[in-house]
Amino acid sequence: MDELRRQTRDGYDVVARAYAQLLPDTRYEAAPDLAMVQHFVTGVSASAERPRVLDAGCGTGRMIGHLAALDPSLDVVGADLSPAMAAEARAAHPGRQIDVADLSDLPHDDASFDGVLAWYSIIHTPPHALAPVLDELGRVLRPGGSLLLGYQAGTGDRRLDRPYGHDVELRAFLHHTPYVRSSLETAGLTVDSTLDRAARPGEPHAQGFVIATRG
Ligand SMILES: C[S@@+](CC[C@H](N)C(=O)[O-])C[C@H]1O[C@@H](n2cnc3c(N)ncnc32)[C@H](O)[C@@H]1O
Repeated sequence: MDELRRQTRDGYDVVARAYAQLLPDTRYEAAPDLAMVQHFVTGVSASAERPRVLDAGCGTGRMIGHLAALDPSLDVVGADLSPAMAAEARAAHPGRQIDVADLSDLPHDDASFDGVLAWYSIIHTPPHALAPVLDELGRVLRPGGSLLLGYQAGTGDRRLDRPYGHDVELRAFLHHTPYVRSSLETAGLTVDSTLDRAARPGEPHAQGFVIATRG
């Protein structure tokens, strides 16, 4: 494991309990962000009787709850790099499969999901290292399946200041939507919809969302 991933895993292990308490659900997401999630779920729900969805980088599992609330027929499983975040997700969603895994090395079979959500989980991966992650997210999607990415949009990186009230180092990277789009296409996915929205008051960055389909 490289130093950046180790730092990300160890940082989230420390903040996991606070993250679960401070961000229990989607109350801080803006309406257009949630509209992209709804758009993703509508497409995935129409594609199978009991669609399988992977929440890739599920953290404490708040988006698992959101997806299941939008469509209770979804079979949502999670995966996260941080054992403590995954433990929070398991406690919040007993009976659901939540694996500890890296986005670039998932334990799931090829083409085993109708949808994959990566909601703010690529933000700790620098743009130059996105390719293996997108290849892997594409690998586990069945042909015709959908991927939704959410991230802070722009360029550059930042060190989070006392994230979730803890004295730990976490480094995050902004992603430039045209670069995300071309990286997805290189990974064999076709971009269906993109949304870049401006930062809201008090939000430090613009936000980006992309829905892509595996060919
Ligand atoms: C900002 S949190 C978002 C969590 C969740 N998706 C949510 O919206 O609440 C980022 C999460 O991505 C996970 N993560 C970051 N890099 C990862 C990687 N390479 N593989 C798997 N998980 C990763 C972190 O452990 C953390 O739980």
